[in-house]
Amino acid sequence: MSVAIVIDPQGCRHVLEAEDGWRLMEIIRDWGLPIGCECGGAASCGMCHVEVADTWRARLPPRSEEEEAKLDELPLVTPNTRLACQILWNEELDGLEVALPKAA
Ligand code: FES
Repeated sequence: MSVAIVIDPQGCRHVLEAEDGWRLMEIIRDWGLPIGCECGGAASCGMCHVEVADTWRARLPPRSEEEEAKLDELPLVTPNTRLACQILWNEELDGLEVALPKAA
């Protein structure tokens, strides 16, 4: 079993067991942490955005055009911002660290 490390809006660190084939957004949501997911993972609401740790940014697949377009509409986007619904979990992501936004 691999794990995702999630920093919540209060700065607390959570180690979440993660199943292959699930979206990171689903993993965070199903563990009860506060993440928006109004569109259900269609990259259209932008509510599931997270900040990926610097050490992980280059290890993730690049953003799709859809993801880029949605992120362009959001305030305070950084090079590390990703839509968690667009990150499909697999064992290679074991230890991925992301932070939830304060306003999630
Ligand atoms: S859940 Fe809506 S953009 Fe990710």
